[in-house]
Amino acid sequence: MDTYDGAAEPNDQTALLNETEAAAAPPIMPVAELHLHIEGTLEPELIFALAERNGIDLPYSGLDELRARYEFTDLQSFLDLYYANMAVLRTEADFADMTRAYLARAAAGGVRHAEIMMDPQAHLSRGVSLETCVNGVASVLATSQEEFGISTLLIAAFLRDLSEESALEVLEALLAMNAPIVAIGLDSAEVGNPPAKFERLFARAGEAGLRRIAHAGEEGPPSYIIEALDVLGVERIDHGIRCMEDPDLVERLVADRVPLTVCPLSNVRLRAVDMLTDHPLPAMLAAGLNVSVHSDDPAYFGGYVDDNFAQLESAMVLSEFDRVRLAANSIGSSFATDERKAELLAELSG
Ligand code: ADE
Ligand code: ZN
Repeated sequence: MDTYDGAAEPNDQTALLNETEAAAAPPIMPVAELHLHIEGTLEPELIFALAERNGIDLPYSGLDELRARYEFTDLQSFLDLYYANMAVLRTEADFADMTRAYLARAAAGGVRHAEIMMDPQAHLSRGVSLETCVNGVASVLATSQEEFGISTLLIAAFLRDLSEESALEVLEALLAMNAPIVAIGLDSAEVGNPPAKFERLFARAGEAGLRRIAHAGEEGPPSYIIEALDVLGVERIDHGIRCMEDPDLVERLVADRVPLTVCPLSNVRLRAVDMLTDHPLPAMLAAGLNVSVHSDDPAYFGGYVDDNFAQLESAMVLSEFDRVRLAANSIGSSFATDERKAELLAELSG
């Protein structure tokens, strides 16, 4: 196999519906995807295709056996599989094919701007160079607007269960190679790895002119959100759902319009909430928080951003008004230029 031509067919979600159903299907809405790990878009079929191309023996006999492992009990149980499956990513072409497959699927679901996180340390630790992983993803992002109609930005995320020294070393290497990143993020196992552990990393990123975001309040307590804001100087929080346990924090987040990139299907699959109908998103909207909806690791959590919206709507958790508001928030909370934001907001209201 030379190239993988993308997991997704062009968007034609109404093609199989009869007229009544098609009329009821929500229109595809322009959105910005702000919380997405590119390694979390590796679909099972692509995992097998890349394993074959690279001569890697997977510890699963086939797709069904792999899919049977997608039953998670918490964040760590997912991370174990997520890191294990990265073994199939070896060459620039692997990273490029994964990125292309994601953009094809995202475009079909209405994504018009995407800020994509990648985990360089998870590749370096397997002997894959920074050049291979960064250039593989970035080479596809460079033409994403022309090829897929999606403007894109790249974010280097750091693994909070590793040391700050390791993160600093990788950040310096990214800066030295002039990697086309706009921001840094903080992800992986949250509890026990508070934001303050990475104070120097985030200070260095700020000095280098990078934007700063961090996962906080996914499994970790509200105090991690406060620390991410106060110690790391982040301007956007990934997840943040546990802010709802601290009314003073909610008040602060509302007053400062701090963006929270919420991932409902992820929260259900990782058991942060029991069911979609229990998700705090409606309460977050009602509190006036600047929330938007995203997919996190769509290949693992049962859906892309459009699937998150569709499932929220069928669970009666979202109204049409909320949907448009969430899409507008996603655009407003992005790091896109003012011009691009205006273009997307006009598309949304048109
Ligand atoms: N890395 C990939 N997905 C993640 C998540 N949901 N939380 C923390 N780290 C991650
Ligand atoms: Zn995430």
